[in-house]
Amino acid sequence: MNVHLQGRNFVAMKDFTPVELQAVLDLARQLKQEQKSGRATPLLANKTLAMIFQKPSLRTRVSFETGMTQLGGHAIYLAPSDIKLGERETTEDIAMVLGRYADVIMARVFGHHIVEELARHAGVPVINGLSDHEHPCQIVADLQTIIERRGQLKGLHLVFVGDGNNVAHSLMYGGALTGMHVTVACPPGYEPQASVLEECQMMARTTGAKIQVRHEVMEAVRGADVVYTDVWASMGQEAEAEKRRRAFVGYQINVPVVQAMNTQAVVLHCLPAHYGEEIDYPASRLPNSAIFDQAENRLHAQKAIMVALVTGKV
Ligand code: CP
Ligand code: NVA
Repeated sequence: MNVHLQGRNFVAMKDFTPVELQAVLDLARQLKQEQKSGRATPLLANKTLAMIFQKPSLRTRVSFETGMTQLGGHAIYLAPSDIKLGERETTEDIAMVLGRYADVIMARVFGHHIVEELARHAGVPVINGLSDHEHPCQIVADLQTIIERRGQLKGLHLVFVGDGNNVAHSLMYGGALTGMHVTVACPPGYEPQASVLEECQMMARTTGAKIQVRHEVMEAVRGADVVYTDVWASMGQEAEAEKRRRAFVGYQINVPVVQAMNTQAVVLHCLPAHYGEEIDYPASRLPNSAIFDQAENRLHAQKAIMVALVTGKV
Protein backbone atom coordinates (compact mmCIF):
# COMPACT_ATOMS: atom_id res chain seq x y z
CA MET A 1 0.00 0.00 0.00
CA ASN A 2 1.19 3.52 -0.84
CA VAL A 3 1.14 4.95 2.65
CA HIS A 4 4.14 7.02 3.75
CA LEU A 5 2.93 9.20 6.58
CA GLN A 6 6.10 9.54 8.67
CA GLY A 7 7.04 13.20 9.16
CA ARG A 8 3.89 14.48 7.49
CA ASN A 9 1.46 17.08 8.86
CA PHE A 10 -2.29 16.72 9.37
CA VAL A 11 -3.50 20.27 9.07
CA ALA A 12 -6.42 19.62 6.70
CA MET A 13 -8.42 16.54 5.70
CA LYS A 14 -7.00 16.74 2.18
CA ASP A 15 -3.50 16.16 3.61
CA PHE A 16 -4.52 12.48 3.47
CA THR A 17 -5.26 10.60 0.27
CA PRO A 18 -8.23 8.21 0.34
CA VAL A 19 -5.81 5.28 0.85
CA GLU A 20 -3.94 7.04 3.68
CA LEU A 21 -7.19 7.98 5.42
CA GLN A 22 -8.36 4.38 5.20
CA ALA A 23 -5.05 3.18 6.67
CA VAL A 24 -5.38 5.59 9.60
CA LEU A 25 -8.99 4.47 10.18
CA ASP A 26 -7.87 0.83 10.18
CA LEU A 27 -5.13 1.64 12.71
CA ALA A 28 -7.65 3.54 14.89
CA ARG A 29 -9.89 0.44 14.94
CA GLN A 30 -6.93 -1.78 15.90
CA LEU A 31 -5.76 0.59 18.65
CA LYS A 32 -9.29 0.70 20.04
CA GLN A 33 -9.40 -3.11 20.13
CA GLU A 34 -6.01 -3.25 21.88
CA GLN A 35 -7.08 -0.72 24.48
CA LYS A 36 -10.41 -2.52 25.12
CA SER A 37 -8.59 -5.83 25.62
CA GLY A 38 -6.15 -4.20 28.05
CA ARG A 39 -3.04 -4.68 25.90
CA ALA A 40 -0.37 -1.99 26.12
CA THR A 41 0.62 -0.15 22.92
CA PRO A 42 3.81 1.78 23.76
CA LEU A 43 4.27 2.87 20.14
CA LEU A 44 5.37 6.38 21.10
CA ALA A 45 7.52 5.56 24.14
CA ASN A 46 9.76 8.50 25.10
CA LYS A 47 8.04 10.77 22.58
CA THR A 48 6.60 14.16 23.51
CA LEU A 49 3.53 15.92 22.18
CA ALA A 50 3.33 19.71 22.60
CA MET A 51 -0.27 20.97 22.62
CA ILE A 52 -0.91 24.65 21.85
CA PHE A 53 -4.37 26.01 22.67
CA GLN A 54 -5.66 29.45 21.67
CA LYS A 55 -9.22 28.37 22.56
CA PRO A 56 -10.90 26.29 25.30
CA SER A 57 -11.30 22.51 25.01
CA LEU A 58 -12.50 19.43 26.87
CA ARG A 59 -12.33 16.59 24.35
CA THR A 60 -9.32 17.66 22.31
CA ARG A 61 -7.11 18.30 25.29
CA VAL A 62 -8.07 15.23 27.29
CA SER A 63 -8.13 12.80 24.35
CA PHE A 64 -4.73 13.89 23.03
CA GLU A 65 -3.16 13.87 26.48
CA THR A 66 -4.68 10.51 27.43
CA GLY A 67 -3.79 9.10 24.03
CA MET A 68 -0.16 10.06 24.44
CA THR A 69 -0.08 8.45 27.90
CA GLN A 70 -1.55 5.23 26.50
CA LEU A 71 1.09 5.23 23.74
CA GLY A 72 3.87 5.46 26.31
CA GLY A 73 4.72 9.09 25.61
CA HIS A 74 4.15 12.43 27.29
CA ALA A 75 2.00 15.45 26.44
CA ILE A 76 2.55 19.08 27.45
CA TYR A 77 -0.45 21.42 27.62
CA LEU A 78 0.27 25.01 26.66
CA ALA A 79 -2.69 27.22 27.61
CA PRO A 80 -3.60 30.38 25.69
CA SER A 81 -1.98 32.50 28.42
CA ASP A 82 1.24 30.43 28.50
CA ILE A 83 2.83 31.22 25.17
CA LYS A 84 0.56 33.99 23.85
CA LEU A 85 1.01 32.84 20.28
CA GLY A 86 1.76 35.78 17.99
CA GLU A 87 1.94 38.24 20.91
CA ARG A 88 4.87 37.23 23.09
CA GLU A 89 6.81 35.83 20.13
CA THR A 90 6.14 34.98 16.54
CA THR A 91 4.43 31.80 15.36
CA GLU A 92 7.54 31.01 13.33
CA ASP A 93 9.85 31.19 16.37
CA ILE A 94 7.46 29.15 18.51
CA ALA A 95 7.38 26.46 15.81
CA MET A 96 11.17 26.43 15.50
CA VAL A 97 11.65 26.17 19.28
CA LEU A 98 8.98 23.53 19.91
CA GLY A 99 10.34 21.48 17.01
CA ARG A 100 13.65 21.21 18.91
CA TYR A 101 11.93 19.64 21.94
CA ALA A 102 8.78 17.85 20.86
CA ASP A 103 8.29 14.96 18.42
CA VAL A 104 4.84 16.14 17.37
CA ILE A 105 2.80 19.32 17.86
CA MET A 106 -0.96 19.73 18.06
CA ALA A 107 -2.45 23.22 17.80
CA ARG A 108 -5.94 24.64 18.30
CA VAL A 109 -5.96 28.09 16.75
CA PHE A 110 -8.17 30.89 15.50
CA GLY A 111 -6.82 31.51 11.98
CA HIS A 112 -6.06 28.45 9.87
CA HIS A 113 -2.93 30.21 8.57
CA ILE A 114 -1.44 29.89 12.08
CA VAL A 115 -1.49 26.08 12.07
CA GLU A 116 -0.16 26.16 8.48
CA GLU A 117 2.68 28.43 9.59
CA LEU A 118 3.51 26.13 12.52
CA ALA A 119 3.62 23.22 10.07
CA ARG A 120 5.95 25.11 7.73
CA HIS A 121 8.54 25.84 10.42
CA ALA A 122 8.35 23.12 13.11
CA GLY A 123 10.33 20.38 11.37
CA VAL A 124 8.16 17.82 13.20
CA PRO A 125 4.58 16.75 12.35
CA VAL A 126 1.91 19.35 13.15
CA ILE A 127 -1.71 18.31 13.76
CA ASN A 128 -4.67 20.70 13.52
CA GLY A 129 -6.73 20.42 16.72
CA LEU A 130 -9.30 22.86 15.26
CA SER A 131 -8.94 26.08 13.32
CA ASP A 132 -11.59 28.46 12.01
CA HIS A 133 -11.42 26.54 8.71
CA GLU A 134 -11.24 22.84 9.64
CA HIS A 135 -11.48 20.30 12.47
CA PRO A 136 -9.90 17.27 10.80
CA CYS A 137 -9.18 15.12 13.90
CA GLN A 138 -12.85 15.35 14.79
CA ILE A 139 -13.85 14.05 11.38
CA VAL A 140 -11.47 11.06 11.49
CA ALA A 141 -13.15 10.09 14.79
CA ASP A 142 -16.58 10.66 13.23
CA LEU A 143 -15.76 8.45 10.25
CA GLN A 144 -14.60 5.72 12.66
CA THR A 145 -17.93 6.09 14.52
CA ILE A 146 -20.01 5.84 11.35
CA ILE A 147 -18.11 2.70 10.28
CA GLU A 148 -18.79 1.15 13.71
CA ARG A 149 -22.52 1.85 13.41
CA ARG A 150 -23.09 1.24 9.71
CA GLY A 151 -20.16 -0.91 8.58
CA GLN A 152 -19.17 1.36 5.71
CA LEU A 153 -18.83 4.95 4.50
CA LYS A 154 -19.06 4.69 0.72
CA GLY A 155 -22.56 5.28 -0.55
CA LEU A 156 -24.02 6.46 2.76
CA HIS A 157 -25.66 9.89 2.92
CA LEU A 158 -24.68 12.26 5.75
CA VAL A 159 -26.61 15.50 6.28
CA PHE A 160 -24.98 18.26 8.31
CA VAL A 161 -27.64 20.60 9.71
CA GLY A 162 -26.46 24.07 10.73
CA ASP A 163 -23.57 26.42 10.13
CA GLY A 164 -21.26 25.86 7.16
CA ASN A 165 -18.31 26.04 9.57
CA ASN A 166 -15.00 24.31 10.26
CA VAL A 167 -16.68 20.98 11.13
CA ALA A 168 -18.88 21.17 8.02
CA HIS A 169 -15.81 21.84 5.85
CA SER A 170 -13.90 18.84 7.22
CA LEU A 171 -16.97 16.62 6.82
CA MET A 172 -17.28 17.67 3.19
CA TYR A 173 -13.64 16.75 2.58
CA GLY A 174 -14.15 13.52 4.55
CA GLY A 175 -17.06 12.58 2.31
CA ALA A 176 -15.14 13.49 -0.84
CA LEU A 177 -12.22 11.27 0.27
CA THR A 178 -14.32 8.25 1.22
CA GLY A 179 -17.25 8.24 -1.21
CA MET A 180 -19.82 9.23 1.43
CA HIS A 181 -22.41 11.72 0.16
CA VAL A 182 -22.52 14.90 2.25
CA THR A 183 -25.28 17.51 2.21
CA VAL A 184 -24.93 20.70 4.24
CA ALA A 185 -28.39 22.05 5.15
CA CYS A 186 -27.86 25.64 6.32
CA PRO A 187 -29.66 28.97 6.40
CA PRO A 188 -28.98 31.26 3.43
CA GLY A 189 -25.88 33.30 4.20
CA TYR A 190 -24.26 30.57 6.32
CA GLU A 191 -23.06 28.27 3.56
CA PRO A 192 -19.67 26.57 3.64
CA GLN A 193 -16.99 28.43 1.66
CA ALA A 194 -17.66 28.24 -2.07
CA SER A 195 -14.03 27.26 -2.71
CA VAL A 196 -14.35 24.32 -0.29
CA LEU A 197 -17.54 23.12 -2.01
CA GLU A 198 -15.87 23.38 -5.41
CA GLU A 199 -12.74 21.56 -4.30
CA CYS A 200 -14.72 18.79 -2.57
CA GLN A 201 -16.89 18.29 -5.63
CA MET A 202 -13.76 17.95 -7.73
CA MET A 203 -12.13 15.49 -5.30
CA ALA A 204 -15.39 13.54 -5.09
CA ARG A 205 -15.25 12.71 -8.80
CA THR A 206 -12.78 9.93 -8.05
CA THR A 207 -14.72 8.45 -5.11
CA GLY A 208 -18.28 8.92 -6.39
CA ALA A 209 -19.44 11.08 -3.46
CA LYS A 210 -22.05 13.77 -4.01
CA ILE A 211 -21.26 16.91 -1.99
CA GLN A 212 -23.96 19.56 -1.95
CA VAL A 213 -25.48 22.52 -0.08
CA ARG A 214 -29.23 22.98 0.52
CA HIS A 215 -31.43 25.18 2.65
CA GLU A 216 -34.33 22.87 3.56
CA VAL A 217 -33.73 20.56 6.52
CA MET A 218 -36.64 18.11 6.16
CA GLU A 219 -36.11 17.62 2.42
CA ALA A 220 -32.39 17.16 2.95
CA VAL A 221 -32.67 14.52 5.70
CA ARG A 222 -35.41 12.36 4.13
CA GLY A 223 -34.00 8.83 3.91
CA ALA A 224 -30.50 9.94 4.93
CA ASP A 225 -28.21 7.65 6.97
CA VAL A 226 -26.38 10.09 9.24
CA VAL A 227 -27.38 13.49 10.62
CA TYR A 228 -24.80 15.76 12.20
CA THR A 229 -24.90 19.15 13.82
CA ASP A 230 -22.67 21.63 15.65
CA VAL A 231 -23.18 24.86 17.58
CA TRP A 232 -24.70 27.81 15.71
CA ALA A 233 -21.96 30.17 16.94
CA SER A 234 -18.44 28.77 17.04
CA MET A 235 -15.65 29.77 19.40
CA GLY A 236 -14.66 33.32 18.44
CA GLN A 237 -18.17 34.17 17.15
CA GLU A 238 -19.67 34.95 20.58
CA ALA A 239 -20.60 38.50 19.54
CA GLU A 240 -22.80 37.09 16.75
CA ALA A 241 -24.57 34.54 18.97
CA GLU A 242 -27.86 36.46 19.25
CA LYS A 243 -28.08 37.21 15.53
CA ARG A 244 -27.27 33.58 14.75
CA ARG A 245 -29.90 32.33 17.21
CA ARG A 246 -32.50 34.10 15.06
CA ALA A 247 -31.02 33.03 11.73
CA PHE A 248 -30.78 29.33 12.66
CA VAL A 249 -34.32 28.74 13.96
CA GLY A 250 -35.47 25.40 12.49
CA TYR A 251 -31.92 24.19 11.79
CA GLN A 252 -32.13 21.69 14.62
CA ILE A 253 -31.83 17.93 15.05
CA ASN A 254 -34.92 16.77 16.94
CA VAL A 255 -36.99 13.59 17.06
CA PRO A 256 -39.15 14.41 13.97
CA VAL A 257 -35.95 15.02 11.96
CA VAL A 258 -34.56 11.63 13.02
CA GLN A 259 -37.88 9.93 12.23
CA ALA A 260 -37.73 11.30 8.66
CA MET A 261 -34.45 9.45 8.15
CA ASN A 262 -33.40 5.88 7.51
CA THR A 263 -34.53 3.66 10.42
CA GLN A 264 -30.88 2.95 11.31
CA ALA A 265 -30.02 6.65 11.12
CA VAL A 266 -27.04 7.77 13.18
CA VAL A 267 -27.16 11.06 15.10
CA LEU A 268 -23.83 12.84 15.53
CA HIS A 269 -22.67 16.02 17.27
CA CYS A 270 -19.04 16.96 17.82
CA LEU A 271 -19.90 18.56 21.21
CA PRO A 272 -20.05 20.80 23.15
CA ALA A 273 -23.84 20.94 22.59
CA HIS A 274 -26.27 23.78 23.23
CA TYR A 275 -29.39 21.74 23.95
CA GLY A 276 -32.56 23.38 22.65
CA GLU A 277 -30.60 25.14 19.91
CA GLU A 278 -28.89 22.99 17.25
CA ILE A 279 -30.05 19.72 18.89
CA ASP A 280 -32.75 18.97 21.41
CA TYR A 281 -31.96 16.80 24.40
CA PRO A 282 -34.37 13.91 23.53
CA ALA A 283 -32.80 13.47 20.07
CA SER A 284 -29.32 13.40 21.62
CA ARG A 285 -30.35 10.45 23.84
CA LEU A 286 -32.08 8.32 21.18
CA PRO A 287 -30.58 4.85 20.58
CA ASN A 288 -29.61 6.32 17.19
CA SER A 289 -27.31 8.81 18.89
CA ALA A 290 -23.58 8.02 18.75
CA ILE A 291 -22.39 11.33 20.12
CA PHE A 292 -20.51 9.86 23.07
CA ASP A 293 -18.95 7.14 20.88
CA GLN A 294 -17.77 10.01 18.71
CA ALA A 295 -16.22 11.72 21.72
CA GLU A 296 -14.53 8.44 22.75
CA ASN A 297 -13.24 7.83 19.24
CA ARG A 298 -11.31 11.10 19.34
CA LEU A 299 -8.93 9.15 21.60
CA HIS A 300 -8.47 6.20 19.26
CA ALA A 301 -8.43 8.20 16.02
CA GLN A 302 -5.84 10.67 17.29
CA LYS A 303 -3.64 7.89 18.65
CA ALA A 304 -3.66 6.46 15.12
CA ILE A 305 -2.88 9.86 13.59
CA MET A 306 0.05 10.44 15.97
CA VAL A 307 1.49 6.95 15.46
CA ALA A 308 1.18 7.31 11.67
CA LEU A 309 2.83 10.74 11.51
CA VAL A 310 5.59 10.08 14.04
CA THR A 311 6.55 6.48 13.24
CA GLY A 312 5.04 5.88 9.80
CA LYS A 313 3.64 2.56 11.08
CA VAL A 314 0.09 2.10 9.83
N1 CP B 1 -15.32 18.45 19.77
C1 CP B 1 -14.29 19.11 20.34
O1 CP B 1 -13.31 19.43 19.70
O2 CP B 1 -14.44 19.36 21.67
P1 CP B 1 -13.53 20.34 22.55
O3 CP B 1 -13.77 21.73 22.01
O4 CP B 1 -14.02 20.16 23.94
O5 CP B 1 -12.10 19.94 22.38
N1 NVA C 1 -17.52 24.74 15.32
C1 NVA C 1 -17.16 24.62 16.73
C2 NVA C 1 -16.60 23.26 16.99
C3 NVA C 1 -16.27 23.00 18.44
C4 NVA C 1 -15.63 21.66 18.66
C5 NVA C 1 -16.17 25.71 17.09
O1 NVA C 1 -15.30 26.01 16.28
O2 NVA C 1 -16.31 26.28 18.16
